[in-house]
Amino acid sequence: MTNIIELNNLTVSFSGKQTNHTLITAVSDATLHVEKGDIYGVIGYSGAGKSTLVRTINLLQKPTTGQIIVNGETIFDSENPVKLSGSKLRAFRQKIGMIFQHFNLLSEKTVFANVAFALQHTQIEDEKTGKLRYLTGNEKKEKVEKLLALVELTDLAQKYPSQLSGGQKQRVAIARALANDPEILISDEGTSALDPKTTNQILDLLKDLHDRLGLTIVLITHEMQVVKEIANKVAVMQNGVIIEQNSLIDIFADPKEKLTKQFIETTSSVNRFIAGLSKTKLLQILSEDEELIHLDYASSELEDPVISDITKKFDVTTNIYYGNVELLQQQPFGSLVFTLKGSNEQRAAAKNYFAEKNLKFNVLGSIKEEGEKE
Ligand SMILES: Nc1ncnc2c1ncn2[C@@H]1O[C@H](COP(=O)(O)OP(=O)(O)OP(=O)(O)O)[C@@H](O)[C@H]1O
Ligand SMILES: [Mg+2]
Repeated sequence: MTNIIELNNLTVSFSGKQTNHTLITAVSDATLHVEKGDIYGVIGYSGAGKSTLVRTINLLQKPTTGQIIVNGETIFDSENPVKLSGSKLRAFRQKIGMIFQHFNLLSEKTVFANVAFALQHTQIEDEKTGKLRYLTGNEKKEKVEKLLALVELTDLAQKYPSQLSGGQKQRVAIARALANDPEILISDEGTSALDPKTTNQILDLLKDLHDRLGLTIVLITHEMQVVKEIANKVAVMQNGVIIEQNSLIDIFADPKEKLTKQFIETTSSVNRFIAGLSKTKLLQILSEDEELIHLDYASSELEDPVISDITKKFDVTTNIYYGNVELLQQQPFGSLVFTLKGSNEQRAAAKNYFAEKNLKFNVLGSIKEEGEKE
């Protein structure tokens, strides 16, 4: 796989009037490599430096030091300064689409005109003369119609932004972002202003466009659930630093940093369930040949349905009290809390089996111990 975007050791500092003449380092020595076809999630709290980092990709933000290579072309290098002419920069930027939290539509223009606006500087090679020329009115119209069909907005072409829902506005913004057939789409909190249902619709659309058009997507968010829905890779940012980056599965299966763990916990309620156990009678009613197990389904190589496996292989019985297992990149991921009933040997064999499968599990023998860990 080839890297379509390489950000190497980027540092972005601000100083001057805006920052009261103190030096603010928004991004610090960040290295991020995006492969063609990735949906790369960049997650962090407000002020972490996500937007600043991602805005360097199309040079909306110039780094202080470091190197940027896009599509094999070095567009910034603090060691060997690159000179990009205005027209080259414009052509380069056209190949990177961008959407934002607040859509940034032109309120006085129709949906159609908002999308057409992105084509006003577009140049193509004339078939007859071989020279670059602007699009004709008809060509623009055709292109806009195609784009609106792509985001399923054909019927709303003559409406104004104020007449649209948030999800519809973001569809217009997506159509506009795709007007110049970019290979890269950047979403800076593109779903942050939307309700959960609309968020999922927009994420589905992005995934669909990724699949159909071969788009590479860089997606900034402060919600791990968004990353979980569509990303295949994740970078976690804190105070301008990329503190952890990995494939989605590996981040979820084996998070290293505290912040990463916190973000992951927001997408699961198993810890809340376990913390609440002490208020239930569940542990007191366990019989002698029973134990309560918390198992994390989080392995990059898990293929077998382990619960049905252990009941078949070791003749134990199980009773599930909490379960949340979903597919991440086609891999089962989640948590189960269940009782495991059988002889000492049978239970030991079942737990051994989990260990062999590299599944993390613990016996919730004492609620108090579990509570103290929180
Ligand atoms: N043009 C600028 N001038 C001065 N400081 C800036 C500028 N742009 C960003 N910063 C500062 O850089 C830091 C990182 O900002 P950035 O917008 O990249 O964070 P973010 O992770 O995108 O946050 P949010 O989730 O709120 O959008 C912040 O402290 C911000 O105030
Ligand atoms: Mg931001």
